[in-house]
Amino acid sequence: MTPTPLRTRFLGLAACGVLAAGLSACGADDVGSNADLIAGKQAFVEKCGSCHVLARADTKGIAGPDLDEAFRQSINDGLGRGTIHGVVREQILYPAILPPDHPGYMPADLVTGKLASDVAAYVATVAALPGEDAGKLGSAVAAAGDGEPVAAEDGVLALPADPGGQLAYITKVATAPPGPLEITSENESSVPHDIAIEGNGVDERGEVVQDGGVSRVDVTLAAGEYAFYCTVAGHREGGMEGTLTVE
Ligand code: HEC
Repeated sequence: MTPTPLRTRFLGLAACGVLAAGLSACGADDVGSNADLIAGKQAFVEKCGSCHVLARADTKGIAGPDLDEAFRQSINDGLGRGTIHGVVREQILYPAILPPDHPGYMPADLVTGKLASDVAAYVATVAALPGEDAGKLGSAVAAAGDGEPVAAEDGVLALPADPGGQLAYITKVATAPPGPLEITSENESSVPHDIAIEGNGVDERGEVVQDGGVSRVDVTLAAGEYAFYCTVAGHREGGMEGTLTVE
């Protein structure tokens, strides 16, 4: 269940009030003139995209609110992008609300200092904005999951997760001969992932790992098509899956 975006408007107005009292900057469009939007986008994709949809960053996480939707109304209501910047920064510092054992729990301080401000500036700049990022911002993050097909070698099929934290393995296409197979998925990123396989009566999952851990499953496969995917909530729906053809 996705939490309602109502809270955003509430927070936004609160931040606006504080600013208005001090600086009369309510509704300002300035997201910070020294913001590094490229660094902000890269960190957003790596640290936030696994839980949030943001169209311009091409992220598809669904554990948290869709950030285009969350801010569309406020932007239409005339709340400036400068104010959104403040709201996002606050959220990074004080996510709160969910208990830590909740699956979609947003930890505090995923990014800190100047980078937190850069991430907030990027989100504030592109939320609910039609079109695509252009120029250097457009090429700031490599596309995930488009890698060449991977074939099993000596009974091992290696399907690493995207090292940048995107919801993808390095490829969506894999092949293996029938028989015993060890499937491994190294995950360099800080976003938790595992590897699971299903199809033709097989349904196995590996351990959830992060920060360089390796998820593994041992199976014996007959000829046919199987799906490999990540079981972490929202990751398969976000695109973290592919097809293994055994022949
Ligand atoms: C593990 C999942 C997860 C990650 C990672 C995550 N979030 Fe969230 N986020 C959530 C959830 C769940 C909520 C709603 C509950 C809450 O506020 O804690 C949320 C709420 C938000 C909101 C408020 C939106 C609204 O409608 O009120 C913003 C803004 C936000 N996150 C930005 C970020 C940014 C920026 C990052 C990266 C630095 C990030 N999130 C990383 C899960 C996540």
